Amino acid sequence: TNYTYIIASRPEPAVALITLNRPKALNALCSPLFVELNQALKDLDNDASVGAVVLTGSEKAFAAGADIKEMKDKEFADAYKNRFLEDWADMTKIRKPIIAAVSGYALGGGCELALMCDIILASPTAKFGQPEINLGTIPGGGGSQRLAQLIGKSRAMEMVLTGRMITATEAANWGMISRVVGEGEGEVVKEAIAMASEISSKGQIAVQAGKEVVNAAYELTLAEGLRFERRLFQGLFATNDQKEGMGAFAEKRKPKFTHT
Ligand code: HXC
Repeated sequence: TNYTYIIASRPEPAVALITLNRPKALNALCSPLFVELNQALKDLDNDASVGAVVLTGSEKAFAAGADIKEMKDKEFADAYKNRFLEDWADMTKIRKPIIAAVSGYALGGGCELALMCDIILASPTAKFGQPEINLGTIPGGGGSQRLAQLIGKSRAMEMVLTGRMITATEAANWGMISRVVGEGEGEVVKEAIAMASEISSKGQIAVQAGKEVVNAAYELTLAEGLRFERRLFQGLFATNDQKEGMGAFAEKRKPKFTHT
């Protein structure tokens, strides 16, 4: 498929890579970019050969936010009636794991985009921030809610109210990302692809279930979440992959998952 604002590639048979490709605007997330991103993710979700997706930007910017030039003259009535930016959340419905490989700026909607992914890896150059306060507004892509859950109230307040950019190390120490990876150019993408490749080697039903149960922790009460996890765990005894996985362990051999 031909896209204008993103590049979709397949670095490995089971790993898809989506690269945001609006370099001159530091990958500012204009509406048509998000339409393409949602379409690409939906297609990959429905492609049985894909096990996991890596989402990245450029060395300088993962994404510098929603497109300010597109937004600056917007009016409430239009934004409300047309549900401005509501389709951003579509990507949280994707069943397959999405790993964000972040270098450079991840600001505003760019930070929120990373937070909508399942795993975040960052290069030492990464800078995360919610600078909307400097534009007379607030995060609108889930940043306030996801940051409060992930890093706690005081740090979320600091980010949202001062607009200060935090470093990759701070983000890691605050539990916002998995970890900071190597220095070199493209290193973080390589690492993310390796992780996606490993995830792809597992039974895909269990992977989908694993993503579903972890996400449930952010939506349900603990009691509901524990019940949901247990039911899904019990349900996985109905899969061939569970028989194969446990059978292979008992027979001291490598499992061959069939994703059934
Ligand atoms: C539109 C943007 C942009 C953005 C950068 N550009 N960020 N255009 N929307 N969010 C454009 C610039 O206008 C410029 O275009 C080109 O990209 C290069 O940017 P420079 O500013 O010249 O680069 P630099 O001096 O290196 O500064 C980098 C920067 C700065 C610190 C990241 O660009 C910046 O502060 N950007 C805005 C960050 C921000 O406020 N993000 C939050 C947006 S609001 P020209 O044409 O001049 O070359 C938001 C709300 C989300 O995200 C809520 C809904 C989900």
